[in-house]
Amino acid sequence: MGLSRTKTRQEPKVAPPTTLFLFGAHGDLVKRLLMPALYNLSRDGLIGNGIHIVGVDHNAISDADFAKKLEDFIRQEAASKVAEGGAEPLDPELWDQLASRISYVQGDFLDDSTYRDIGEKIKATGTGNAVFYLATAPRFFSEVAKRLGSSGLLLETDDYFRRVVIEKPFGSDLPSAVALNACLLKVMAEKQIYRIDHYLGKETVQNILVSRFSNGLFESFWNNHYIDHIQITAAETVGVETRGSFYEHTGALRDMVPNHLFQLLAMVAMEPPAAFGADAVRGEKAKVIGAIRPWTEEEALANSVRGQYAESTIGDKSVAGYREEANVAPDSTTETFVALKVMIDNWRWVGVPFYLRTGKRMSTRDTEIAICFKPAPYAQFRDTEVDQLKPNYLKIQIQPNEGMWFDLQAKRPGPTLDMENIELGFAYKDFFEMQPSTGYETLIYDCLTGDQTLFQRADNIENGWRAVQPFLDAWAKHAQVEQYKAGEDGPTAADELLQRDGREWRSIK
Ligand code: BG6
Repeated sequence: MGLSRTKTRQEPKVAPPTTLFLFGAHGDLVKRLLMPALYNLSRDGLIGNGIHIVGVDHNAISDADFAKKLEDFIRQEAASKVAEGGAEPLDPELWDQLASRISYVQGDFLDDSTYRDIGEKIKATGTGNAVFYLATAPRFFSEVAKRLGSSGLLLETDDYFRRVVIEKPFGSDLPSAVALNACLLKVMAEKQIYRIDHYLGKETVQNILVSRFSNGLFESFWNNHYIDHIQITAAETVGVETRGSFYEHTGALRDMVPNHLFQLLAMVAMEPPAAFGADAVRGEKAKVIGAIRPWTEEEALANSVRGQYAESTIGDKSVAGYREEANVAPDSTTETFVALKVMIDNWRWVGVPFYLRTGKRMSTRDTEIAICFKPAPYAQFRDTEVDQLKPNYLKIQIQPNEGMWFDLQAKRPGPTLDMENIELGFAYKDFFEMQPSTGYETLIYDCLTGDQTLFQRADNIENGWRAVQPFLDAWAKHAQVEQYKAGEDGPTAADELLQRDGREWRSIK
């Protein structure tokens, strides 16, 4: 299996010498994802001695203690993954090399003197290239950007670049996203802004474009003549954990749809870009997200379902409902599940519904795109009921079992004509040796090397919010939320959303 595959490889280069400032250095993102990703990049030889990693935060800590704190956390995490049979232990030599390039600037994000210290640090590292990674609470995004701008730290020359990475959430609705973009673009150019959506760092998400545009087969049926509808699911088994106060004001729609789910939708639905460069790819994505039909408030209500997980027992464990979670109001109407129907008004997709759903505390962790094809035009097989012909699906599973599967009908061996659904599949793990990774490696590397293809452009972000704004507006007036038991796949109203169209959700597995 897989032995005859041909390889088309590009050898990646070492990223240029850069000082990488991590704002929000004591936060979870830095220790859980960014530092492990930097370690993996260093393991793979993609960042060299020219990298300087500088934590920026308000707590006082020495360079050595900051590096040690990160090391302890990463070592422990790696060890527990080894105990579970995954990942590799931390390599002390490799870590020491990286640690020698870690330092710290103590400072308040709102204080101009912090930016003077950052300027001094850039002089001291001796490399003009700098990336400012805002791994902070969203309220600091525009404040930090303004101060980076006013202190001259965003000025580029022919000899060095200055880039800013912005984490999600990028705004909380259309007006706030437009305002944040305007604020950023006052102090820097679009080519300096790297808006992160970590879904774009996932191999399987990137593979959607490769599969579609490097295999001639797909294009012939990738349209409304052959595709009946598309389902995009991001099901999680976790609840809101410790993020109650964040989640209360966010909810499943804002947290997952205009960003992660729309990115998946864009990858599946966009037109082929003229080239694989950032402008062409992001231009096509902006167009397709911009073509999502803007529902009226009435249509938005009819085409959406909001759910909230209720207390339940999963296995032998009793699980709290959302309203019992820490920092959540006992009468909260925040949704932890959302199901939506959206239509794309363009030549390729007219008439093909896209059904999206995402939720916490569902039965299984599963992120997938299921493309449902129109049925065969006529069921001419003797002794076979027409309604036994199942539709063909192409399933692209993003996680946890990364790969692609085609559901086909096949004849069961034997003298009678019986049909059965079979799967034709490709699992990443069967073909490729995958090094442990966080998903942030590609994104950090691309930012250091100046490739914006996997980052969101201002128009991508605004088009995404424009498409979800009718749901936000409609729900602000009718905050109905249906309960579903923790461990179930959303409320029954979500099933009814598809049943009305004569369709059904694929089971989550
Ligand atoms: C984050 C959301 O952006 O994505 C979380 O804020 C969610 O609520 C997470 O759990 C899902 O990411 P992944 O990579 O686990 O699918």
